[in-house]
Amino acid sequence: MSTRQRITALTGAVVLILSLVIYMLTVSPAEQISEKEEAAEREEISYDQSLRPQYHYTPAENWMNDPNGMVYYEGEYHLFYQYNPDGDQFGNMSWGHAVSEDLVHWEEQEVALTPDEHGMIFSGSIMADKENKSGLFPGEEGGLIAFYTSAGNVQDQRIAYSTDSGRTWKKHEGNPVVPNPGIEDFRDPKVIWHEQSGKYIMLLAAGKKVMFYGSENLVDWEYLSEFGDTGAQGGVWETPELFELPVDGDEEDTRWVLQVDMNPGSIAGGSGGQYFLGDFDGAVFTRQEKSNDINWVDYGTDFYAAQAFNGMDDRVVWMAWMSNWTYASSLPTDPWRGAMSLPREVTLQKDNNGEVQLIQQPADELKDHRGELLYEAAGIELEGSETIDGFEEETYEITAEMEPGSSGEFGFRIRYSPDMQEETIVGYDTKNDVVFTDRLNSGKTDFHDSFAGVYRAPSRLEDGTVKLHIFVDRSSVEVFANDGQQVLTTRIFPFPESSGLEIYSKEGDVNIKSLQIYDRPSAW
Ligand code: FRU
Repeated sequence: MSTRQRITALTGAVVLILSLVIYMLTVSPAEQISEKEEAAEREEISYDQSLRPQYHYTPAENWMNDPNGMVYYEGEYHLFYQYNPDGDQFGNMSWGHAVSEDLVHWEEQEVALTPDEHGMIFSGSIMADKENKSGLFPGEEGGLIAFYTSAGNVQDQRIAYSTDSGRTWKKHEGNPVVPNPGIEDFRDPKVIWHEQSGKYIMLLAAGKKVMFYGSENLVDWEYLSEFGDTGAQGGVWETPELFELPVDGDEEDTRWVLQVDMNPGSIAGGSGGQYFLGDFDGAVFTRQEKSNDINWVDYGTDFYAAQAFNGMDDRVVWMAWMSNWTYASSLPTDPWRGAMSLPREVTLQKDNNGEVQLIQQPADELKDHRGELLYEAAGIELEGSETIDGFEEETYEITAEMEPGSSGEFGFRIRYSPDMQEETIVGYDTKNDVVFTDRLNSGKTDFHDSFAGVYRAPSRLEDGTVKLHIFVDRSSVEVFANDGQQVLTTRIFPFPESSGLEIYSKEGDVNIKSLQIYDRPSAW
């Protein structure tokens, strides 16, 4: 070592010791420990755990439920969500935040809104105020306004605003903007722009009703009307959503879709969503359907509190919490608990009987991020079971068109391992005309009594065929049947080794007209 090198090394050592002494004198021992712990924790967080969804959003750690404040603003999709920054159970409800440019890759941000003396920060939405109608952005070009429920002794609706694309927020001094009128469950403000009346509309879940409020400036709200006493009433209504869509693409023939979630009492048990179709005149929603049957949004167990992005003018795309209040707090994942569904485009279509129905399809962006084609087949007659040779995958996408000849039941055994006796079955039952997902032996199921089960969606053959579009991730299965006419979303918790795939047909044969399987690479 030369003299110069020795001096440099010595100076380095002195600087290091001095900084250490300054650090120890200025930062308390308790702070030093917690900083170390936090840094160590961050190091450890990996997105590669065996049950961590690879192309569905999850927070790095802790509890997450409903999507909140979904908005497309200045080139970014914002997903805020119910989040506990301090643990993996419901509590300290805050708004977590993630941002994406393509609806596929999400980047977690700092926590956006945290509880205060008025209570926790429950679900809500965001509206961009580009023209500063609210007056909250003096001298600025506008910004974002978040509408949330403050859940303390009472539930009321409050606002916060941001001038830096949702990174930091200020709570409004004039809160609450909608005080509680004496209703216990009074929450989840969804704000939309109603073009026809030139007004903003706020929807709230109130007991088993939806209440509508109107405003011209996003700050002063007046009560308009309420909607209820119809549909499924098994539990309290939550997280309402409202938008207008053309039927079969005909802009002259539109319906308003009012979606509400309910806990419990849903079709697959526990919490789930229903929708109503009708007219909304800027004040009152009127249901207009041929029958008053219940319309379920998703026939699986795990699609709750769906919220559509504000600020997307060309289509309605929503995402939901992929869980169920019945067992959400027992899900066997660590250090995070909670996942979002894929983004889905929602449209309306007339069925063969002329009834308008809600169609849900994976958002187009998902196609752009498909991996390689892993397997392809066409025109195969199958009777019995056929395991796909060498198939060992945990995250993939299946598209299939199948024509049941004499088959009584056919479909796929996914996340399949004969050795571990694990399988999740996605199939079609031709005797009862239902598409189903069976997670009885899907892996870990014993963390909650009501987790294992079979979930069925009424269906029918279209031109003698069934189309199945299935998204498999490390702990979820989303089934879009017959071009999104029936949808089933379920969580599963298989061993990583349960990665086989089998096609089967019982009690007769099926013609597999076409089958493609694509890899779904990790979005982390
Ligand atoms: C729906 C819900 C909302 C509430 C939030 C609390 O899942 O119960 O009604 O605002 O979750 O996290």
